[in-house]
Amino acid sequence: MQLPPFALERFFARHEFQAKYLLCASDCESMSVDELLALEPGASAALGALRLGYTESPGSPSLRAAIARLYSAIGPDDVLVTSGAEEAIFTFMQAVLAPGDHVVVHQPCYRSLVDVARSIGCEVSSWQAREENGWELDPDELPTLIRPSTRAIVLNVPHNPTGYLMSLEAFHSTQRLAEERGILLFSDEVYRGLEHAPADRLPPACEESESAVSLGVMSKTYGLPGLRIGWVATRNAALKARMAVVKDYTTICASAPSELLAEVALRHAEEIARRSRQIIDSNLGLLDDFFTRRAGIVSWRRPKAGPIAFPRLLAGDVEAFCRDLVQSSGVLLAPGGLFGDAGSHFRLGFGRKSMPAALVKLDEFMDARRESRG
Ligand SMILES: Cc1ncc(COP(=O)(O)O)c(C=O)c1O
Repeated sequence: MQLPPFALERFFARHEFQAKYLLCASDCESMSVDELLALEPGASAALGALRLGYTESPGSPSLRAAIARLYSAIGPDDVLVTSGAEEAIFTFMQAVLAPGDHVVVHQPCYRSLVDVARSIGCEVSSWQAREENGWELDPDELPTLIRPSTRAIVLNVPHNPTGYLMSLEAFHSTQRLAEERGILLFSDEVYRGLEHAPADRLPPACEESESAVSLGVMSKTYGLPGLRIGWVATRNAALKARMAVVKDYTTICASAPSELLAEVALRHAEEIARRSRQIIDSNLGLLDDFFTRRAGIVSWRRPKAGPIAFPRLLAGDVEAFCRDLVQSSGVLLAPGGLFGDAGSHFRLGFGRKSMPAALVKLDEFMDARRESRG
């Protein structure tokens, strides 16, 4: 397999720790180890006493039990812990795809969802989200994309980078189609729990169908990407076993301190997710005002979930815009090409407490640009 450079990750490697104002982060506000341990009496002592041996390959039973409690019809044995969501994507594709298989992928997207399949030698069709449809996927389009060789449908809701959330009806029709045609549904649900209207929350795909795998992670909703703890949940035991075989060649097992810290966090999952949603809500109010004032320069579809949106620059080259912005103001936005977008979109992240300060800088940059063109 020949993996292409991961353009988004290379972009972050270059800018994330240099740019003063990160306005395209895909995660929510993080916390320190001390803050996390303070959530629970005894957690600090447990971390201090932890022995740093190998951990259990599928994930410790107690961590898998804590993950299973996020679902209603999933048990600890239906869970495989991975090193971030990224390892789960890689492992799933290695486990189930072969050269010549066909895969349908929700696009634009976080690129490993498409590039790992391509690098295995799969043919990929895009199930394209279009801005003019509010980033909705067209359920009628999906059957036209399916071929006899289709092995998997890759869906990401809530969606990175648009903040789109599928309707329950469309989610069910996707699951039905996958089941009827004997196709696996890889459902990337890393933003689940960040719906702006809680009533919009979709059920996890893994609970609805044995053909489905749900992807979860500590990175986004819980703001703990430094733990590098992700997981898949599925009632398809054979598939989970095949993924476990691949995992023996990637990380073998997760980091012991991370497993312990993730477990502490998950015992307070609702409290941490609520904190993330509060930051998102407050930042969304500022963005509503910003996009109203800047309607002549940028347009956006207000996202329905998650800490990210995919606005469009109405005139000019979006890559040059993002480059000038980071060079002159230290504000980092991610041009849409990093997600396979051919339009003039950019990803804007609003899950962090630093967003208001970054937005002020973006506002100033836009004023300065207007004056210089005056
Ligand atoms: C939709 C989606 N899936 C998976 C990942 C990978 O997550 P992690 O960094 O936790 O491995 C990301 C990261 O940005 C993502 O946005």
